[in-house]
Amino acid sequence: MFSLGKIDNVEIIPAPLAGISDAAFRLILRECGAKVCFTEMMSAMGIVRATKKNLSLIQRDTDKGPLIVQLFGKEPEMFERAVPIVEENIRPVAFDINMGCPARKVVGSGSGAALMKDIRLATLIVKAVRSSTKLPVSVKIRSGWDKDSLNFLDFAKMAEDEGASYIIIHPRTRAMAFSGHSDWSHIKMVKEAVKIPVVGNGDIRSSEDYLRMKEETGCDAVMIGRGLLGRPFLIKEILDKDFVPDSKYLKNIILRHIKLAVLDSKHPEREIFKIRKHIIWYTKGLKNASSFRSELVSITDPYLLIKRIEEIFSE
Ligand SMILES: Cc1cc2nc3c(=O)[nH]c(=O)nc-3n(C[C@H](O)[C@H](O)[C@H](O)COP(=O)(O)O)c2cc1C
Repeated sequence: MFSLGKIDNVEIIPAPLAGISDAAFRLILRECGAKVCFTEMMSAMGIVRATKKNLSLIQRDTDKGPLIVQLFGKEPEMFERAVPIVEENIRPVAFDINMGCPARKVVGSGSGAALMKDIRLATLIVKAVRSSTKLPVSVKIRSGWDKDSLNFLDFAKMAEDEGASYIIIHPRTRAMAFSGHSDWSHIKMVKEAVKIPVVGNGDIRSSEDYLRMKEETGCDAVMIGRGLLGRPFLIKEILDKDFVPDSKYLKNIILRHIKLAVLDSKHPEREIFKIRKHIIWYTKGLKNASSFRSELVSITDPYLLIKRIEEIFSE
């Protein structure tokens, strides 16, 4: 565990997940024990160019807890200009720089994991963010572009030299995207190479995985992404060995998530579509789940959705 600004004992960090890390999900994660949450990646240029139309991009929403804003882009100047806008409007506790997104659209424009092919530019971006804020700055890297260019140690040392407060490593190459296994030995190598805290990320699905990553790599904290989908309470399971979620707990967390995401929203008719994927994840493996899934697409009334969930759990 490590301290991030005023937040002590950070040991589990929910990963930034585009299309998923919204306010409602973050509130759920906080209720499950997350001390700090990430936004999904936000375009530095998009923030700078924010017009009235997308001003919502740079406003705090219903989640007022400690928040790390992750920026992506390729132009140091855009980062430099985006940081104060974010600081004023969103009031994050820290910034993170995305150097790992493998999506074709993102790397095609020279951002995300493409930065791992250009350490000089990546350095300028870290410098730009560092010089525009007093808040902690981190970088989230992969192992490298492909198996023939594993340059994570160069990036970790660069980040440390440039004053990053900690480093997050997801030890897959860009070429792997999300396939195969993350190579935790790379987390260990980073931990041995730098003095700043190291956050390990990749393929944590259980408390056992969490403990094994800590033991095998010596990392200071663990970041969890896909393992929290349908199971945000994995955080609670890790923090409290005696906690065993039963079906009542599962039902209640689904209903709570619907309340936060849909009922409390100004646009429930829009949010009900977005919550579907979560409900599919939550109910995976539950008996009656497959017929419920096909029914789910036709439910547009949140109260009907709540009623059906109550029924599924009482069957
Ligand atoms: C749907 C999805 C969206 C993601 N969005 C982001 C993102 O916005 N920023 C980022 O740094 N990583 C993003 N990632 C990568 C995750 O943060 C994480 O590094 C990766 O999923 C490995 O961790 P896991 O095995 O625990 O999921 C995303 C991954 C997925 C599956």
